[in-house]
Amino acid sequence: MQVTPLTNALGAVVEGVDVRDPGDDFAAVHAALLEHEVIFFPGVHLTEDEHMALGRRFGTPSIFPVSRHLGATEPVLTTIVDHPGQANAADHWHTDVTWIAEPPKIALLTAVDIPERGGDTLWASGTAAYEALTPKFQDWLAGMTVVHSVEGFLMGVRKKLGDDGDDLVDALRRGYPPVEHPLVRTHPETGRRALMYSSEFMTRVVGVSDDESRAVLDFVGSWIKDVRFHVRWHWSPGDLAIWDERSTAHRAAGDHFPHARSIRRLEIDGDRPFFDPTR
Ligand SMILES: [Fe+2]
Repeated sequence: MQVTPLTNALGAVVEGVDVRDPGDDFAAVHAALLEHEVIFFPGVHLTEDEHMALGRRFGTPSIFPVSRHLGATEPVLTTIVDHPGQANAADHWHTDVTWIAEPPKIALLTAVDIPERGGDTLWASGTAAYEALTPKFQDWLAGMTVVHSVEGFLMGVRKKLGDDGDDLVDALRRGYPPVEHPLVRTHPETGRRALMYSSEFMTRVVGVSDDESRAVLDFVGSWIKDVRFHVRWHWSPGDLAIWDERSTAHRAAGDHFPHARSIRRLEIDGDRPFFDPTR
């Protein structure tokens, strides 16, 4: 198996392994994911069954809260289509579903229909961003707690569904009250620290004034957007990306309209984020 890093912050291309059925190579794939935070397998063209089976190697595939509301009792692959009639809801820096207490730990995304130009995805390493801070700023941010809210997600639902989304909005608001997560998160497997960032879901820092909260979140937002901490992937149909949701944020560039873009995603259940001051 060859692992070729893409930037100094994160990301690597993995070749020489049959990711459809990695067998004993799975441990090496998993280790590459932990080390590089997002790994790419060009042109593998996973079927839906293969996609789900690979996801199960990493853990328990998630039932997305929206799918659950619509009656799903088994995990489902989510196909996300962005076209002129349906704006790209992921065109901002975020970590997926941080508005729940135990957000997903890993995501597996494969490209289905890709425009000729544009539609790239960018990832930011919260680990690299944290480690590039001076110790004084690391100490200042570590231990801060941030409220994450479903409201940012509901704005997208309203945009997409209009009044038809009323039931879903009510159900998600009832089912998912605001939740607190650490701003600096300790990775449960590697022990490394990472900034946890999700622009539309983070509403305020706990225990400080409104002005102070805004200043902290503005700083972290501008810091994580620094290109030093990024990798950018230009998709071809069939490419597979697997990323660690516990240490990265990502953004889908909404620059491909009027051409449509279609991807298929699976999330893997995660644990409650925590900060461990002793690690
Ligand atoms: Fe996302």
